[in-house]
Amino acid sequence: MTESSDFRTTTIPLNDGATQIPALGFGTLIPDPAVTLSATKDALVAGFRHFDCAERYRNEREVGEALQSGLAAQGLAREDLFVTTKLWNSNHRPERVEPAFEASLERLKLNYLDLYLIHTPFAFQPGDEQDPRDENGNVIYDGSVTLLDTWRALERLVDQGKCRAIGLSDITLDKLEPIYASARIKPAVVQVESHPYLPETELLQFCKQKGIVLLAFAPLGHGMKPGLLEDPVITAVAARVVKTPAQVLLAWAVQRGTALLTTPKSAARARENFDISPLPEDAFDEISRIQTRQRLNDVVHTGRPGFIPRAKTT
Ligand SMILES: NC(=O)c1ccc[n+]([C@@H]2O[C@H](COP(=O)([O-])OP(=O)(O)OC[C@H]3O[C@@H](n4cnc5c(N)ncnc54)[C@H](OP(=O)(O)O)[C@@H]3O)[C@@H](O)[C@H]2O)c1
Repeated sequence: MTESSDFRTTTIPLNDGATQIPALGFGTLIPDPAVTLSATKDALVAGFRHFDCAERYRNEREVGEALQSGLAAQGLAREDLFVTTKLWNSNHRPERVEPAFEASLERLKLNYLDLYLIHTPFAFQPGDEQDPRDENGNVIYDGSVTLLDTWRALERLVDQGKCRAIGLSDITLDKLEPIYASARIKPAVVQVESHPYLPETELLQFCKQKGIVLLAFAPLGHGMKPGLLEDPVITAVAARVVKTPAQVLLAWAVQRGTALLTTPKSAARARENFDISPLPEDAFDEISRIQTRQRLNDVVHTGRPGFIPRAKTT
């Protein structure tokens, strides 16, 4: 990790030996298209250079538009950004991977990706229906494709120079280990829920040993209240270091060696969530000692996108 007096420019090297991932990432899981556009532009202006997308978020077009106009407005180049998107569960069959990747690229208005992730380790029935259900409302899984089959198809995208790195999301250590062992191109990044209530210590340790970056989503516990933002340890540290609870939680994540994703939706929050600096060691340790345990997303056990909020329809 590059050391600096603040975390705004902190980057972590990926195992391809060439790419650096900015520790502070902006997540684009935003159901409203207009908010996607404005929040993505605001994030770019605030200084975020790492953007996390997914075909499942159904807003890659808006993100692409915001990035294209934002880069031009700020005189930035594509190479100044680190952009990730994810392969959805209904595209796990190897022959569906490259078309899904190309469709994401087209929507994002990009000609390469920095990182492509398998969104969850669960293959759903292949097709354009992202959420296939049987007559009883149960998810229809696809038992004929393994995670390794899908991984091999991602490796071919790297071979073709279409993306610089590949990884997995919503994965547990027991599923990561066999992929790591069999992979010709090792996973560079693992994106999972992680925060002081779900530190994923064992997974983080494995990732550090193997040179994999752990990319934490929900570092603010999805902003749920009651929750992490109101935890007495977090609010006490925030008062002591004269930062907001959100800034303290984001700092803790970077300080323990993970990259993170956060989704501020206004310009003021984008500035707040980007203005992250190291915590004093005692404050960092105090947060690491929090004993509450809570997983907010069940997706690692089912592949079901329960975490994706539906846009309100009027
Ligand atoms: N791989 C996966 O399965 C998966 C799952 C979930 C998320 N993700 C990724 O992770 C990204 C981050 O999502 P997240 O929900 O984890 O984001 P987050 O930043 O941890 O939480 C967002 C929530 O926190 C609130 N918030 C943001 N900044 C705040 C601040 N400074 N003070 C107080 N509240 C604040 C937001 O409120 P407002 O809405 O009021 O602004 C929102 O309710 C997503 O966009 C997506 O890219 C991936």
